[in-house]
Amino acid sequence: MSLIRLVQFLLVVVLTIVRTVCGVPGVSVVSNTLLDPQGIFFVSYDGVVNVNSFQQSAVIAFGNFQYAAWYTASGTAVIGRRTLPSGSWTTLQLPHKLSTSDSHNVISLGISPSDGVIHVALDCHSTQLYYTRSEANLATSGASWVASRFGTITNNLGNLNIGSQITYPQFVVTPSNLLQFVFRTGVSGNGATQLAEYISGAWNNVGSWASATGTYTAPSGATSTLRNLYIHGFTYHGTRAYVTGTWREQNGAVACSSSGLTNHDTVYFYSDDSGRTWFNTAGTKVGTSGSSPINVNTAGIIVDSLNADHALMNQESQTVDSAGRIHSIISYVPGRFTQCVPDYETGRPQWAHAFHLYQAANGSFIKFEIPYYIQSVGRSQIVLDSQDNAYVFMPFLRVATASKSSGYTDWAMAYNGTAAGLDVFGEVTLDRARAGNGLVSVLYQVSSTGTTPSSVHLVDFKLGG
Ligand SMILES: *[C@@H]1O[C@H](CO)[C@@H](O)[C@H](O)[C@H]1NC(C)=O
Ligand SMILES: *[C@@H]1O[C@H](CO)[C@@H](O)[C@H](O)[C@H]1NC(C)=O
Repeated sequence: MSLIRLVQFLLVVVLTIVRTVCGVPGVSVVSNTLLDPQGIFFVSYDGVVNVNSFQQSAVIAFGNFQYAAWYTASGTAVIGRRTLPSGSWTTLQLPHKLSTSDSHNVISLGISPSDGVIHVALDCHSTQLYYTRSEANLATSGASWVASRFGTITNNLGNLNIGSQITYPQFVVTPSNLLQFVFRTGVSGNGATQLAEYISGAWNNVGSWASATGTYTAPSGATSTLRNLYIHGFTYHGTRAYVTGTWREQNGAVACSSSGLTNHDTVYFYSDDSGRTWFNTAGTKVGTSGSSPINVNTAGIIVDSLNADHALMNQESQTVDSAGRIHSIISYVPGRFTQCVPDYETGRPQWAHAFHLYQAANGSFIKFEIPYYIQSVGRSQIVLDSQDNAYVFMPFLRVATASKSSGYTDWAMAYNGTAAGLDVFGEVTLDRARAGNGLVSVLYQVSSTGTTPSSVHLVDFKLGG
């Protein structure tokens, strides 16, 4: 061991001891696996198509296996599989190429527990969806990993026609082990969030649960009559579905700058019947999917007020703690820097901070600023471990952590992907399925320029390690 290595080693030991004594949770890298040396690369809407905050899910562990999806350099959709915890990855290529250089057009994976079918939804941005699903039990059988085990790619959700203006396909599993499909119809600033449910091999429409209707009036007096809800997640815990999100107004006049973001306010509502009826924090019924969706004028759903002048980001992340309380990450430019972000694409990298917004035991919402500049337009992902300590995976794979025992105030940087030399493009996405066992898989793509492909990686982190 060279002297420098020895000193580095001792430093790590000392830091680990200090962190353990102070009670701030750490993380350690278990493995960093190269999934593809040549992932497709282009930047659009400040993001890359292989790793986007709203993907649910690009990587998903199920039983003894883990699955990951990405587009390789040719634009072909690739699905990988490994045996957990550390088997080598094998890949198959679906007969579909990315239709356009748009970073919205991600691949989302879902698994229906009742029949072990792997569902794949991909390649849409206010356009028709592409969808396929596997033969039964492929998720658990370990049968040979070949594309012929997936059905024809269709523009419907299997048997269900969901129209031709689809964005943000996400799969979630209900407490009764039904697979659901969450998506947006319409367009940014004029869209509705929707829900469908997979029962006995068939998809059924549940309906829209948040609509574009209502009137928003900005502090300036400007009004907007159309919008869409951007969600930080649609998360089941116990018997409840939790949603936090932000509204994006259609009328740019509600923001102080035409290069700002018209996102405003953070809302929260929940459902105890798998997304049919919705309640605000006070426990008042405020919406019914299909017939009476939530809208911007719904009472009692704003849990953090913010006007459209602070470059508030949409579709960040959320999770639920062991006591059944919601924790979200939101990010924006705090008022101490400016009361009007002139351009979100430059203002966010310069000033934006992430905030931990969560419901305390007494029911009120607490917001705490995570004391680091995001240094990016991009979003952060929150995970809680089995003790409810918080881990926030920020752009460039920087991991900020805080302990529950401190009341989530002792934020420290537990891992710095830049210092570790990973050269991460920006946002990362997570597989939280093993978080209860103290493991989180993180998908990232290496930065590049123009359209030069770059490598796609999966890092396994041990939480608290
Ligand atoms: C609720 O609890 C939080 C955190 O424990 C505390 O900061 C806040 O003051 C409490 N609010 C009320 C109304 O008691
Ligand atoms: C992460 O590491 C980079 C490179 O060493 C450094 O410039 C940056 O300030 C670090 N970020 C944090 C939040 O510690």
